[in-house]
Amino acid sequence: MSSITTLFDRTQRVLISGAAALILSSTMITGAAADIAATYNNSCAACHDSGALNAIKKGDSAKWQQLIKQKSMPTLINSVKSGMTQMPAGGLCDSCSDDDYRQLIEYMSK
Ligand code: HEC
Repeated sequence: MSSITTLFDRTQRVLISGAAALILSSTMITGAAADIAATYNNSCAACHDSGALNAIKKGDSAKWQQLIKQKSMPTLINSVKSGMTQMPAGGLCDSCSDDDYRQLIEYMSK
């Protein structure tokens, strides 16, 4: 009897830890693309919060809107991807997609 109980115990534990892992990995997947504010803080903020190295500041809407109008969004996304004089390629974000960059630029322009 006791060995059956132990087996039941163990099966349940495996099931529970499996479910926990599933929940964890699904929040990680949605979190990566959805949390633009966190990505901004981890990557772009280093320069775009303070205007370090003459980066356009987050929240300077007038300057960002002018730049978006002048160069167009796809050009700006490419600038970040390939880097500029002072900005490192990718803007310190290794996992960002084109769409993440677009959202980050829109986030900074508000
Ligand atoms: C190490 C500092 C630094 C980091 C980190 C950084 N930038 Fe920049 N960024 C700059 C600077 C400085 C400029 C102005 C151009 C230049 O001198 O390189 C700039 C310019 C830009 C431009 C304008 C490009 C153009 O064509 O005029 C965009 C868009 C941009 N950054 C987006 C981002 C995004 C999005 C991130 C985060 C994923 C980021 N940057 C991270 C320093 C940085």
